Amino acid sequence: MKSAYDTTLAEEEISIVEVDRGTPMGELLRRYWQPACTSDELGELPHKVRIMCEDLVLFRNGAGEVGCLDLHCSHRGTSLEYGRIEENGIRCCYHGWMYDTQGKCIDMPCETNAFREKMDVWQPAYPVMEFGGLVFLYMGPPEEQPLFPMFDILDTYGRDDVVLKGLKLWDDHSLGWVRDCNWLQHVENALDPWHLIVLHEMISGDQFESVLTQGGWPEIGFSETDLGMRYDLAKELPNGNMLERHSEAILPNIVLVANIHQKGAEPIWREKATEVIWCVPVDNETVYGICICAWPASENGAPVEGWKPGTDTISDIRPGQLRERSYEDKQRKPDDMEAQEGQRAVPVHASETLGQVDAGISAYRRKLRDATADVRDGRDPPNIFRDPETNRMIKTSCWNTVTAPEA
Ligand code: FES
Ligand SMILES: [Fe+2]
Repeated sequence: MKSAYDTTLAEEEISIVEVDRGTPMGELLRRYWQPACTSDELGELPHKVRIMCEDLVLFRNGAGEVGCLDLHCSHRGTSLEYGRIEENGIRCCYHGWMYDTQGKCIDMPCETNAFREKMDVWQPAYPVMEFGGLVFLYMGPPEEQPLFPMFDILDTYGRDDVVLKGLKLWDDHSLGWVRDCNWLQHVENALDPWHLIVLHEMISGDQFESVLTQGGWPEIGFSETDLGMRYDLAKELPNGNMLERHSEAILPNIVLVANIHQKGAEPIWREKATEVIWCVPVDNETVYGICICAWPASENGAPVEGWKPGTDTISDIRPGQLRERSYEDKQRKPDDMEAQEGQRAVPVHASETLGQVDAGISAYRRKLRDATADVRDGRDPPNIFRDPETNRMIKTSCWNTVTAPEA
């Protein structure tokens, strides 16, 4: 017996799970645009968010401009989530100080203009941009702000076959409802093809109506991509066709998942992922998933009705994937939520026993550590794009390919 009374667990040299400001991973994640909410969540009322342990308020002023400010008013700290949105800014409910989208205090109704001008109050703020139906924040050092990376999936320049839609992963559709755990657990799940077969098939029944285990186990490997890591899965299907499948994790916190409904009935060449999914830390123990989906467009440019994202399972085949289930049901048919949240709120890497299954995850963790070292040493980490000329059609590496036996 190995006694569980053991106080010698080694601390990881560098934590790659903690995201507070000033931590290595917190600083790395702050070098990238991170999605905070969908554009249509910014309506008449202020929208409070918590990202990487920071509490912020987002609002859209009367002119349609979006601001992101520290949640607590610079006067005496009242939460601006209770503020009133006006034409030029957001007004604190307590004594009426008003801030514009840049955070400049532009009104203090109880004070004189002379006082306001003398004080020159600025509520701390972050740069904001909207793209593809999402609202993105840049929370890093102002002089390091990169371009928004134009991944091929999202680059609609000169194309009219898709429209971009911002979706909250666990409200609108679900890859697996996982929320109450560290962000990295959720990223790593995309580099874990074995769990598709064990958790979603052998243990809990066929949760994806999957073709992956029919007639034997697939071959699985991992490879580096331009942007991170992916798994490489090959499976001879019962119909004789060959399915080649890849999912990709893009440094530091993006995952791409190829259409999980692909049954391999017909040959198909590189059916690419249609969603770019960000796994955004709320804090060290909570994560949310949010994506931009390249939704097929009809001839009049409107999104094709009835089409479903390739990662959507909640609406039909996995109703048991809803968050509220009985404890017994969760024990009998565990899903991603039970598996990932069950790894602890914050994983203890030092107590893990990694095997060949985890080769992709190990390599990805190494890349994350190297990226934190880049930031520490004053270099740009991977996947920072600064040249508008080349920030086009950035090649992602996640797809399904089906080939006929004779091919
Ligand atoms: S606390 Fe906000 S105006 Fe006084
Ligand atoms: Fe899963």
